[in-house]
Amino acid sequence: MQANAINAAYLAAAALFILGLRGLASPRTAVRGNLLGALGMFVAVLATLADSRILSYELIAWGVALGSLIGAVWAVRVQMTAMPQLVAAFNGFGGGASALVAASAVLTADAVSDVPAVQLHISSALSVLIGAATLTGSLVAWAKLQGVMYWQPRGGFFRLLSSGSAVAAVVLGGLFAADPERMPFFWGATVAALVYGFLFAVAVGGADMPVVIALLNSCSGLAAAATGFVFGNNVLIIAGSLVGASGLILTRIMCKAMNRSLWDVLSGDLAEAAAGAACADDIYAGRVKSTSPEEAALLFDTARVATIVPGYGMAVAQAQHTVRDFANLLESRGVEVRYAIHPVAGRMPGHMNVLLAEADVPYDRLYDIDEMNPAFGETDVAVVIGANDVVNPAARDDKSSPIYGMPILEVDKARTVIVIKRSLSPGFAGIPNRLFANDNSLMLFGDGKQAVRELTAAIKEL
Ligand code: TAP
Repeated sequence: MQANAINAAYLAAAALFILGLRGLASPRTAVRGNLLGALGMFVAVLATLADSRILSYELIAWGVALGSLIGAVWAVRVQMTAMPQLVAAFNGFGGGASALVAASAVLTADAVSDVPAVQLHISSALSVLIGAATLTGSLVAWAKLQGVMYWQPRGGFFRLLSSGSAVAAVVLGGLFAADPERMPFFWGATVAALVYGFLFAVAVGGADMPVVIALLNSCSGLAAAATGFVFGNNVLIIAGSLVGASGLILTRIMCKAMNRSLWDVLSGDLAEAAAGAACADDIYAGRVKSTSPEEAALLFDTARVATIVPGYGMAVAQAQHTVRDFANLLESRGVEVRYAIHPVAGRMPGHMNVLLAEADVPYDRLYDIDEMNPAFGETDVAVVIGANDVVNPAARDDKSSPIYGMPILEVDKARTVIVIKRSLSPGFAGIPNRLFANDNSLMLFGDGKQAVRELTAAIKEL
């Protein structure tokens, strides 16, 4: 195909990517956005395959078949709660692929790339540096979230090693770009970047990994964009830049919703802060009231407005369908039901939205934190299902709390609060929650799905 036609197809693909991203900004248009993005990628792949410089269609077909098979099986089998580690693995392979493609361009420079030599060498050095670090960083993120790696080294020596490998990678990469004949610099930079990616991610606590995954997602995009410069491939440059920018925006949103700086996340400071937090016994002793499904059901006899506040525990219990049935029952009894969604409830962006959408909960029942907080005063019963940190009043009232300043859903302002969880164990932040000891709080202990099922049955008996 003519170069002009290929570039026109790339332009169309880029426009589809942008329209797709725009659609993904709202749950209502997300499915269409996803399809537009996929269509853009399809157009980009077809245009690339039409390029006369393709050396072997057979090899490409084998790669597509094998990759599609592994990806499809993995994506179908993965549990919703294991989605962050799947994304981590995808990011890692994306970064690794960019690094491999750039390395192959360096090894066969004249044959595959027709960009100016300076551009080829600078961009391939960048692609290998970012891609290699993304690969090992993402594999560590996967291992930590999968629960197969717990090591979290700290201390001066470790930080020295980590910064040393970063500096070595950049210096060696720069030396290679300046003198491309010296391949040992290129391989040295690759190894140093692999080491840095590992050390950078291993320092972060498993629970903070979702933020790191968003950051690594951005890096995989930047690596792809750099690879685009290696070949002068416009669609790779545009797609990589879009992934890079959106990953950074997501990282920022997550840090802001947790009221933590990226530096705090990367240096693993949450564990230290939690160690200094108030003691659970001081907060809970003699103040926590537990209830039964039958007793809790009575509250809904007179309730007009109920607000459901889901959190990570709902995902663990896979209680979303049971929660929807519970809400449907309340609505059939004339109760107005709202769902209050915190931006970092759960363990990945949009976690609660995805689960509730899977259970066919209508979008117009979902309220974000800014809409919901002024309305908690008119809530008769707030039902907190497996949420903890995102409803902890310490974030609002206790300056010494490690989560002080994090925006929370102010459920304590509802007339009565039912908290469904298995025990008084802390959540992600590792700190106790004063909400559980409040006068208007009742603890309904049990697995999220089972407890909501029993509560639903008890309401039916009323
Ligand atoms: P968490 O504060 O982590 O609390 C979850 C609670 O669920 C736990 O206290 C646990 O208590 C309960 N639970 C676990 N399994 C359960 C089950 N089967 N049935 C019922 N309850 C169960 O959750 P959250 O309120 O959603 O807050 C999310 C936290 O993750 C925040 O601190 C946030 O900053 C952090 N974080 C979020 C993200 C994103 S993007 N969402 C990324 C990184 C970090 P029991 O063990 O007593 O049952």
